[in-house]
Amino acid sequence: NKPLKIAVIPGDGIGTEVMPYGVRCLEAAAKTFGLELSFQTFDFASCDFYDRLGDMLPPDWKETLAGFDAIYFGAVGMPDRVPDDVSLWGSLLKFRREFDQYINLRPCRLLAGVKCPLAGRKPGDIDFWIVRENTEGEYSSIGGKIFEGTDRETVVQETVMTRTGVDRVLKYAFDLAQSRPRRKLTSATKSNGISITMPYWDARVREMAKGYPDVAVDKYHIDILTAHFVQRPDMFDVVVGSNLFGDILSDLGPACTGTIGIAPSGNINPTGAFPSLFEPVHGSAPDIAGKGVANPVGMIWAGQMLLQHFGFQDAADAVLGAIETVLARGDAAVITADMGGKGTTKSLGEAIESEILAAKK
Ligand code: NAD
Ligand code: IPM
Ligand code: MN
Repeated sequence: NKPLKIAVIPGDGIGTEVMPYGVRCLEAAAKTFGLELSFQTFDFASCDFYDRLGDMLPPDWKETLAGFDAIYFGAVGMPDRVPDDVSLWGSLLKFRREFDQYINLRPCRLLAGVKCPLAGRKPGDIDFWIVRENTEGEYSSIGGKIFEGTDRETVVQETVMTRTGVDRVLKYAFDLAQSRPRRKLTSATKSNGISITMPYWDARVREMAKGYPDVAVDKYHIDILTAHFVQRPDMFDVVVGSNLFGDILSDLGPACTGTIGIAPSGNINPTGAFPSLFEPVHGSAPDIAGKGVANPVGMIWAGQMLLQHFGFQDAADAVLGAIETVLARGDAAVITADMGGKGTTKSLGEAIESEILAAKK
């Protein structure tokens, strides 16, 4: 039994504040369930590192991180100090692309005790997965600028869809839909306006659907899909989208369940050729950084996804159970301000940690 090697990268802002509670909850789960986890923390992929060394990552980052089973990541970005495109393309987006983490898996679930901003919705009404393409699409490095500084200034950034890239994310989403009781897949498109790549996406969905006759498939243009997220969130089971559409939907979905502060994500390389990366959906939140009030649930739930990824089902269930128990209790002194409480990262993080330690093996 070799320990699972986890690279810990807190990053910037509230990433550094929620990460300690993420690690403590994983350690608690390891203790309760007898798992061997080893953690090594890195200071790169942060704007502090950039200020010191002029780059987001050291030259040997890829060999270093490739030696780990998984990466546990906080958040990166301090736009007042380093432009976001520099900090993000220099770190997180590099990890996703170079480690071929082509699935970005993001649950969207209304939990008991969390106030839903949508009228009349109760736990169970919102429970779906967003499967986001994570290596190509609108996030492409193909493009450029010409005639800079003149009135003919022109900027171009191409959307890239490859057959391999589209098919592999669709296959993952169809497999996921097939494994769930409702067996329903919704595809995000915009083939009425984006007339080359999006009709291609739709055609690949139709082709893939032939192999899954038991999965009910529908598709919506992204504009009305955002409206359905708000007005009919109970209609979704698995939602698959391109990189940009998936990005937008995965802030909107969690916001519809109360707060983006609870949302986790798995950046997954299903082949296992490279480590997968687990992180909250939210960013470094410079507006609340340094105050100790960030919601740690997204970070902790990302740790739960890590455990699930490696098949530690009991431990994963205990972590999610602990999150659910503490949130359902709804103690205003414990829960954070984004959920209407007066608590802190510490009060909420420690409450969840205690529940994990109290879980039955
Ligand atoms: P953000 O997610 O950091 O914050 C958006 C809003 O949500 C803010 O008002 C913030 O206070 C609040 N919020 C976010 N997480 C919260 C939490 N855990 N608890 C309570 N409130 C929370 O998004 P942004 O403001 O667009 O971006 C800030 C920086 O983070 C930028 O540099 C951006 O590029 C970066 N970013 C990084 C990631 C990542 O590392 N994965 C993701 C998104 C944004
Ligand atoms: C996310 C973030 C990133 C993305 C940014 C920070 C580049 O918003 O993980 O959702 O767009 O993928
Ligand atoms: Mn996002």
